[in-house]
Amino acid sequence: MNEEFKSKYHEKYAAAKQKGVKFWPDIIYKDLIVSFALFLLLIGLAAFVGIAQEPKADPNDANYIPRPEWYFLFLFEALKFVPGQIEWVGTALIPGIAILVLILLPFIDKNPYRNWKKRKVGVSMMSLVVVGIVGLTVRAVVTTPEQEEVSLAGSIAEQVIQGQDLYSIYCAECHQPDGEGGEVAGVEGLEGVILKPINSQDEMWTRTDETLFNIVDLGQQDLGMPPYGLGYGGELQRSEIEAVVAFMRYTWDERAEIPEEAIIGIPGLAEGEVPSYEVHISAVAKRYCVSCHRPDKENNEYLMQTYEEMLTTGDNADKNVVAGDLENYIIVTLHRESIFDTNGDEIIGPMPPSKEIKAEYIDMFERWVLAGMPETADEAAALSEPAAGEAAPEAEATPEP
Ligand code: HEC
Ligand code: HEC
Repeated sequence: MNEEFKSKYHEKYAAAKQKGVKFWPDIIYKDLIVSFALFLLLIGLAAFVGIAQEPKADPNDANYIPRPEWYFLFLFEALKFVPGQIEWVGTALIPGIAILVLILLPFIDKNPYRNWKKRKVGVSMMSLVVVGIVGLTVRAVVTTPEQEEVSLAGSIAEQVIQGQDLYSIYCAECHQPDGEGGEVAGVEGLEGVILKPINSQDEMWTRTDETLFNIVDLGQQDLGMPPYGLGYGGELQRSEIEAVVAFMRYTWDERAEIPEEAIIGIPGLAEGEVPSYEVHISAVAKRYCVSCHRPDKENNEYLMQTYEEMLTTGDNADKNVVAGDLENYIIVTLHRESIFDTNGDEIIGPMPPSKEIKAEYIDMFERWVLAGMPETADEAAALSEPAAGEAAPEAEATPEP
């Protein structure tokens, strides 16, 4: 710093001091006004704008993508350049050095000029930091994957329908298709155990939805009820367990008003009407068979989740479903007879193993097989005989049950 400049500076300083702006109270007063304005702004924002709500925290939700607040994104992004074993370099060392440099900046660059053109070192260091922070933040925003839309529980009707599917897959093999309980058959480790009904009014009146949720989430492992929550080694998301509980509540609890579209009946058949896979057989199978006849279950490799599977899979695929033949294995076992091999050993027991399904449904299977297993409702309608006194089958609009 040369002498001339120094004396000029001191002159200026003395003049300013002479003029007399005091820190207290002049400057403090201005500060107070600005702080108070900011304070009002924050209160206003909090009261009238608020922040966007995210869905409730869910420890089971593996799809959630956690990200820090935007003003920390650059630190978060910087971490991606550091391998996991030396994480501390990214979390502590580099930010530490950067902050230290900023603290030391006034000492490194003692240049007295205020004009930015004359302060190359200071300005370029600060710019580097700002560009780094902005660049990393932008990169973090751009590379963040789209948050998967969380399925906010749909209408009760949708929940009940989803819940029924889940119930038949996960619960029916032990608790039976309608929660009626009874003797367990064909389930490893619980063979012959008698389960009490879970569909009774007793059960429904004494268990809240929350209790039911917890029983399914955590299981009752000392009694043989497995846990279903993802957090406890099961396979169901929270929303799925909620759907199962909704199904139980709206189907079994006499007090619960079921929304009309949620009544999931298996449509009845008129005289001479041929059932289709699409409308009738798939519904019965879903309710009474699919809990066992799906992959990874003991079932002689016989899967019943699609039309194709039903006709073509199984150790005895050629004998399970045969058009026009009431001696095929589905019909015989539905009538609670066993199939024996040539040595007289039982190879297939009655189906479903626990108890006979309604005669009405067995009749459905029989009519379906006799008609040659039509898949779609249209195919079945074409095969149906017109009811007496009707001109054409489609003229009869059977009211929904
Ligand atoms: C492997 C067999 C098995 C499966 C599968 C199973 N449970 Fe259970 N569950 C049990 C046993 C055993 C008990 C305890 C004995 C009892 O209460 O009769 C039980 C108890 C329960 C109870 C408590 C009854 C009470 O109030 O004390 C509920 C509710 C229940 N299960 C619901 C379900 C639901 C919903 C599913 C499907 C997500 C399911 N269970 C799947 C075996 C099973
Ligand atoms: C609790 C589990 C369970 C349910 C529910 C069940 N099955 Fe089975 N099913 C089995 C098992 C296990 C076998 C293997 C043979 C045996 O052990 O009896 C089998 C075998 C069969 C077979 C012979 C498949 C082959 O290729 O050998 C047919 C047909 C069959 N089931 C039809 C049905 C039908 C139809 C329903 C529904 C109305 C049904 N099952 C429900 C457990 C079940």
